[in-house]
Amino acid sequence: MSRTDFRTAALDALAKKVIPEEHFEFSMETARDNFFKDTGMLDVKQDVHNRFRTNPKSMVSHMTDNLDLIGQEDLLDLGCGNAFVLEHLRPHLADGTITGLDVAPAVLDAARARMHGTATPCTWIEGSADDLSMLADGSFDRVMANYMIHYVPDLDRCFTEVRRVLRPGGIFQLTTDRTDSMLEMYQVHFAALKAMGAPKDLIKATPKGRLSLDNGAGQLERHFENVKRVTWQDQLRFTDPEPFLRFYQVGHNHCCASSEPDERLDEAFFSELRARVRAQVTETIKEHGYFAVTKYTGSFLCS
Ligand SMILES: C[S@@+](CC[C@H](N)C(=O)[O-])C[C@H]1O[C@@H](n2cnc3c(N)ncnc32)[C@H](O)[C@@H]1O
Repeated sequence: MSRTDFRTAALDALAKKVIPEEHFEFSMETARDNFFKDTGMLDVKQDVHNRFRTNPKSMVSHMTDNLDLIGQEDLLDLGCGNAFVLEHLRPHLADGTITGLDVAPAVLDAARARMHGTATPCTWIEGSADDLSMLADGSFDRVMANYMIHYVPDLDRCFTEVRRVLRPGGIFQLTTDRTDSMLEMYQVHFAALKAMGAPKDLIKATPKGRLSLDNGAGQLERHFENVKRVTWQDQLRFTDPEPFLRFYQVGHNHCCASSEPDERLDEAFFSELRARVRAQVTETIKEHGYFAVTKYTGSFLCS
C-alpha cells in the first residue's frame, strides 16, 4: 500500500453495504440558482479540503500534472466555478490563455475577481457546457471539466462540442468521483437518517453517479479515441466535529438531503440529523483519535 492509497479492504466491503445504487439528480437550474447562487458552498469545500487533507500532493497538482503543460496552451475550463483550480494552474500557463465558462453568474464574477490583474489573458463566458457555439473549431489545446459534468443537461452534445473546439493532439480532462468517495460521511448520514425513520427516498448516492469514475469511460469512448483513467485519493481527518459538520451541512447539503425544498423536512429535522451525525463523529474521534473521510476521485484524460 502506498502512503496515499487510503482504501483498505474493510472500506471496500463497507462501501458495498452503505452506498446505494440509485443516485440523486439535480438540474442545471438547481445548480445555478441554488447551489452556486453564491460561492458559499465552494468556499467551504475548498477550505476544508485544503486544511484537513492528508495526501501531500493536492488535487490541483494532480490535475495540473495530467494536463502536461508547456506554458503556451490555450485552455478552456468548463464549469470553472470561482477559479480556485485556475488560480493554481495559471503559473503553468504564463504564455498561454485561459477561458472560463460557467452557468452561474455569481461564481463567474468571483473567478473574474480572483484572476484580475494576472498576466495570463483570461476570458469569462456565462453559459452551459453543452453549448460552445460561441467558440471556434480547434481553438483550445486543453479543455477541463472538473466536478461539474453531472449537472450538464446534454452530455453527448457537450462531448461533441469539446471534441470540436479541441485542437488535434489536445487533451480533455474530466475529473469526477467514485460514488463511494467520502464513504464515511455517507455512512454516518445514512445511519442517522435510518435511526430517525426518515423517508427512504433520501437514501441515494451522490449525483456524480450519473458520470462517475466507475461508469464514465464508456460514455467518453463514444466521442474520444483514447480515454485513460488516472485516480487520486486523499483522506480528510478531523479531530473536531465542527469543521466536518460545516462540510457536511454547507458543502454537501447534508449529503443532498437539503438540496431542494422538501415539505416533509423542516429545520427541526435537519437539526436532529446534525445532532445525530455529530454524536457519531464525536464517538469515532474519541475511539480512534480522528474521524476520517476517504476521497476516491480522479480524471479521465481523453484525446
Ligand atoms: C462543484 S463546482 C466545480 C467548480 C470547479 N470546476 C472546481 O473544480 O473547483 C460545479 C460548477 O459547475 C457549474 N455548472 C453547473 N452546471 C453547468 C453547466 N451546465 N455548464 C457550465 N457550468 C455548470 C456550477 O455553476 C459550478 O460552478
